[in-house]
Amino acid sequence: MENSKVRIAVMVSGGGTNLQALIDAEKAGKIPHGHIVLVISNKADAYALERAAKAGIDTAVIRKISWDDQSGFEERIVEKLEEYGVKLIILAGFMCILSHGFTSRYPNRIINVHPSLIPSFCGKGYYGLKVHQKALEYGVKVTGAPVHFVNEIPDGGTIIRQKAVYIKEDDTPETLQRRVMEEAEWVILPEAAEQVCEEIIEKERG
Ligand code: GAR
Repeated sequence: MENSKVRIAVMVSGGGTNLQALIDAEKAGKIPHGHIVLVISNKADAYALERAAKAGIDTAVIRKISWDDQSGFEERIVEKLEEYGVKLIILAGFMCILSHGFTSRYPNRIINVHPSLIPSFCGKGYYGLKVHQKALEYGVKVTGAPVHFVNEIPDGGTIIRQKAVYIKEDDTPETLQRRVMEEAEWVILPEAAEQVCEEIIEKERG
């Protein structure tokens, strides 16, 4: 049964609450067309690695050795993905930008969750808590999260799913981050993963 599923790698850098949402969703039978086989982190101390280990998922730490190591870094990632027969890559709080060389190898096979309504507060330099700080500074009343395909433009690919979240007057970046995760990210990321896995299987069947 597991053989007929899309093999998924999740790429992380930090706490891994989105990874947890994916693990929980798969356990609950909500990703019937996919199976998480690998978690890759660019940080050895990412708590996400512990979440993966607890769930019995293989992990790999792959780091950039120096600032000009982008292609070596990506080659090492590709080797791991090939070793595990990965067909779908999910960026879940992965804080590195991937080059065109990498993204073009996997067209419509990499998805990312971002914590604002693209095209606002996104692109290079917009990640994690900073996104929520900028949304509050600007004074928007509605924010949210999309899951989108990844191409060479940071946060630039086609949107698969998105959900809006209302901002409260007393929100801080931290309270807003938490609510966007709870109400949007943790809901739409597993949904989008399942949708894309099903589409991959349908395409392969022709
Ligand atoms: C999430 O809010 C995710 O959307 C964001 O980082 C957080 C990771 O949390 N990603 C980005 O900002 C990427 N541009 P997590 O490690 O608990 O899933």
